[in-house]
Amino acid sequence: MAPQRQLFSFCIFSVLSFSTITSGYGGTLPDNKPSTQRFAPMYSYKLGKSVPQEAGPERFSLHTLGSTLQSKRMVTNPFHPIHNVSGARPSTPAPISVDKFGAKGIDHTDDTKAFQKAWLEACSSNGAVVLLVPPHRSYFVKQFTFSGAQCKSHITMQIHGTIMAFEDPKTYHFPNKSKQQYWLTFERVQNLVVEGPGTINGNGEKWWQSSCKQNNITRTLVPNCNNDAPTAVTFKTCNNLTVHNLNFEKAQQKHVSFENCTDVKASRLRINTSEASPNTDGIHVTETKNIDISMSRISTGDDCISIMGGSQNVYVANIACGPGHGISIGSLGRGGSEDHVSDVTVFGSRLTGTMYGVRIKTWPGGSGYATNITFQMIQMDNVTNPIIIDQNYCDTATKVINGECKPPPLQKNTAVKVHNVMYQSINGTVSKDGQAIVFNCSSVPGGACEKIVLDDVRLEKGGAAVCSNVKPTYSRVDLPLNRCPNQ
Ligand SMILES: *[C@@H]1O[C@H](CO)[C@@H](O)[C@H](O)[C@H]1NC(C)=O
Ligand SMILES: *[C@@H]1O[C@H](CO)[C@@H](O)[C@H](O)[C@H]1NC(C)=O
Ligand SMILES: *[C@@H]1O[C@H](CO)[C@@H](O)[C@H](O)[C@H]1NC(C)=O
Ligand SMILES: *[C@@H]1O[C@H](CO)[C@@H](O)[C@H](O)[C@H]1NC(C)=O
Ligand SMILES: *[C@@H]1O[C@H](CO)[C@@H](O)[C@H](O)[C@H]1NC(C)=O
Ligand SMILES: *[C@@H]1O[C@H](CO)[C@@H](O)[C@H](O)[C@H]1NC(C)=O
Ligand SMILES: *[C@@H]1O[C@H](CO)[C@@H](O)[C@H](O)[C@H]1NC(C)=O
Ligand SMILES: *[C@@H]1O[C@H](CO)[C@@H](O)[C@H](O)[C@H]1NC(C)=O
Ligand SMILES: *[C@@H]1O[C@H](CO)[C@@H](O)[C@H](O)[C@H]1NC(C)=O
Ligand SMILES: *[C@@H]1O[C@H](CO)[C@@H](O)[C@H](O)[C@H]1NC(C)=O
Repeated sequence: MAPQRQLFSFCIFSVLSFSTITSGYGGTLPDNKPSTQRFAPMYSYKLGKSVPQEAGPERFSLHTLGSTLQSKRMVTNPFHPIHNVSGARPSTPAPISVDKFGAKGIDHTDDTKAFQKAWLEACSSNGAVVLLVPPHRSYFVKQFTFSGAQCKSHITMQIHGTIMAFEDPKTYHFPNKSKQQYWLTFERVQNLVVEGPGTINGNGEKWWQSSCKQNNITRTLVPNCNNDAPTAVTFKTCNNLTVHNLNFEKAQQKHVSFENCTDVKASRLRINTSEASPNTDGIHVTETKNIDISMSRISTGDDCISIMGGSQNVYVANIACGPGHGISIGSLGRGGSEDHVSDVTVFGSRLTGTMYGVRIKTWPGGSGYATNITFQMIQMDNVTNPIIIDQNYCDTATKVINGECKPPPLQKNTAVKVHNVMYQSINGTVSKDGQAIVFNCSSVPGGACEKIVLDDVRLEKGGAAVCSNVKPTYSRVDLPLNRCPNQ
């Protein structure tokens, strides 16, 4: 029996406000709403088992959606003196505005130094402090790391205006080309809040044009292409982090990445970038434990959400995704690496016009596992591959020659094991050329897909199920044509 998880659950109020968000995308949530029922992940596959809990740490309402101008977090500590900024009373320290440090918010004026000074001021403050990016202007900022190792207190960064990257890749400096590159990084900041309602814009079109993974119709490789495009915003080694009510646009590559963090809440993020942009994942999670991602809508050129190795206890709920490549676990095991992902729940979400719905992808030759994964209450509209496990994943940037991934995996006889995966209450339509279910599992002994369960799955149109090396368990499953062989 699985120990019951302390994952938060939803009240009907949050669901109602979510359908209001998604209606901007031409629809509302499915009629069969999660209602007042509360769900816990069901790793033991005892169907209908749910644990009533208190509502989640944040209750969303229509009222709070648009009005976060006032920070809820301006708490003060009576035992610490507070910087007397602009004559404010100690009990309500005035926000530290980047303008005070000379930020101009004028087209193409470099405000990086002002951000740096403002961050140092906030970081050295003894009491809880608000760092403000004022409204109505666009602040151009170069690569910058908001380093928190020396910070003394809780910082809330309020972004009301826009933080903008310079568009020319030549303005970036990467000392080590073989590493992942970054634009804005929050590193080792504890108890950080980053909130909107403003925008972070990666201004990434020039990067897209030189990408090796052209995601447009021709799919031709660009001469002198590069894969160096930076991630727009990275949170690295942050514990107790909240990121909410922010807009992200035109990331150079991924939009938001959580790396090596614990206890993260990401909510009400709006990511809207061209479908033709390459590698522009919406929210990327790697080596991160205890993360809730909720109430967000994501339109982009790659995965709306990607969950990578080292991630544990990931809860994704109320996401509207599309266009994009859906919600993915992986790719795992790339280049023969060992990856572990466990306890992932994707709940109450809607995918519209995406290439994939819910996907698990692993490279041949890797090792480790993806386990205890639940996809529940998910609506698919016109999705090409709504349910997919691919243990023979080979990125399009790598060549597939005669059905083999080139360069070939270092070890041929290993696979990232995929087990305990539950698909429950998944409804919707498959696109014209799509396939409802693809389980392309590994033939490696002991590495294949195990304990794959489908319950209450109804997918209309599109092609049949395509399966190899898997024997799923079905109940209440209604697919267009056939299904994979039963156990
Ligand atoms: C997956 O869930 C099972 C059943 O609850 C549990 O025994 C196992 O430890 C979990 N695996 C991981 C890696 O968390
Ligand atoms: C804060 O600054 C104002 C104006 O500069 C001053 O009058 C006040 O005494 C200061 N308060 C504290 C607690 O330093
Ligand atoms: C660049 O980064 C890679 C990967 O982290 C590392 O192996 C290599 O030593 C680094 N090279 C330099 C010059 O720092
Ligand atoms: C987490 O961070 C928030 C915001 O800074 C703070 O109010 C809260 O006390 C922190 N929680 C813990 C357990 O430190
Ligand atoms: C699409 O591909 C062509 C040919 O490589 C390239 O010139 C163009 O910039 C690409 N468009 C986008 C939006 O990436
Ligand atoms: C990951 O986080 C832990 C603490 O949470 C830290 O000790 C470690 O140095 C971090 N690893 C990297 C690669 O930053
Ligand atoms: C997303 O961006 C496109 C192009 O800028 C725009 O037409 C569309 O309205 C945006 N969608 C949302 C939901 O903001
Ligand atoms: C799918 O449809 C069936 C029958 O109409 C319903 O029982 C189930 O709750 C629906 N699930 C979702 C996720 O929409
Ligand atoms: C379904 O998606 C395809 C692209 O995958 C698009 O061409 C088509 O117009 C969509 N159909 C509907 C009904 O939205
Ligand atoms: C599984 O993936 C391999 C490699 O991409 C491909 O050649 C094969 O056709 C796929 N099998 C199914 C059943 O889709």
